[in-house]
Amino acid sequence: MLKRNSPESDIKTENLQRPPAEQLYAEDLAALQERDREAPKPPGWLLSPKAVLDFILGDAKGNIEPKFVGRRSFIECCIIALVTNRGLMLIGDPGTAKSYLSELLAAAISGDSTLTIQGSAGTTEDQIRYSWNYALLLSEGPSERALVAAPLYRGISEGKLVRFEELSRCPIEIQDSLLSVLSDRVLHIPELKGENNVLFARQGFNVIATSNTRDRGVNEMSAALKRRFNFETVQPIPNIQEEFALVQRETEKMLKRAGVSISLPLDKTEVLVTVFHELRNAQSREGKSMDPISTVMSTAEAISVGYAAAMHAFYYDDGIIRAEHIVSNMLGSALKDSGDDVKKLRHYFEHVVANRAGSHWKEFYAARRCLDGR
Ligand SMILES: Nc1ncnc2c1ncn2[C@@H]1O[C@H](COP(=O)(O)OP(=O)(O)OP(=O)(O)O)[C@@H](O)[C@H]1O
Ligand SMILES: [Mg+2]
Repeated sequence: MLKRNSPESDIKTENLQRPPAEQLYAEDLAALQERDREAPKPPGWLLSPKAVLDFILGDAKGNIEPKFVGRRSFIECCIIALVTNRGLMLIGDPGTAKSYLSELLAAAISGDSTLTIQGSAGTTEDQIRYSWNYALLLSEGPSERALVAAPLYRGISEGKLVRFEELSRCPIEIQDSLLSVLSDRVLHIPELKGENNVLFARQGFNVIATSNTRDRGVNEMSAALKRRFNFETVQPIPNIQEEFALVQRETEKMLKRAGVSISLPLDKTEVLVTVFHELRNAQSREGKSMDPISTVMSTAEAISVGYAAAMHAFYYDDGIIRAEHIVSNMLGSALKDSGDDVKKLRHYFEHVVANRAGSHWKEFYAARRCLDGR
């Protein structure tokens, strides 16, 4: 049988819609492992904490591409949390790349970012710990063969990081099933007899959870569980130039992967990122305050508007990306047709965009007609 994602299999990186980070950045990981041979590493880690940092933030000298945009001291704290005997909880607004950062950390530290639990109101313990193959359970009774490992079981037995997405969306009693695992580092399997009923965590195991501060927040977590995590807040990118470079880079990558041979012109990216930055902070770059809008104008949304605008232009309009493509896709991808926010956007056009010099801003102002009738 072919191994999943082996070179012989047809599940090659280029055939996947979104390959996992360890596959997408396999070359960076191999180069870092090579150069990191002698460096001291925490037990069970594939890379040293310094190399994990270089993997995430990039290292021009070593030809490692930057992936996440954020302060070095923040990433260091995240990595150090994982070296300790506590889990790491990444909190922040939607679209600030909490999930992406947890994926990068898991890929660099464990070489596997796929041990992921998606938290929701319907998440059950079976999906977190383990369940049973009922045919085997009925014929043989509870045995290791009949046990179906879920991500937590696998992380513990293989010594890998487990990602728990949107942990605070799970009911409290389900969240608390992590308590003994995080403090005693064991998983009890009461159904199995003898010594098999306790699974001790191998070196390298830990948990990275994420929680979005706009939905059911971390306040819904028990104090006992909170104590077992180090909390780190992922902030939106404060520097507009860095956000600009990221949006340009990410949209280019996505378009290339989609086989679309155009890219966002620099002046369009500048307009897009400036508009998102200003609406997010409810302040124009000239210092004018605005009514905050209810939509999260995250970098992730800016990237999807840029991508959608380019696809729109490519498939319908000779590949020339115009301001109209950006404005009309802002409605669907970001503002989701929220009436109140569209009103505020119109106000922004009339009071901020209208006064800007430069042909790209004039073109953007003219594109406000796409808001008519919304
Ligand atoms: N600081 C950043 N560095 C790199 N990429 C970023 C950054 N901020 C946003 N992005 C982009 O945004 C995308 C989406 O981020 P992601 O889904 O991880 O956000 P999230 O915080 O988990 O959102 P949610 O709370 O909705 O789950 C990333 O894949 C990346 O392309
Ligand atoms: Mg997420």
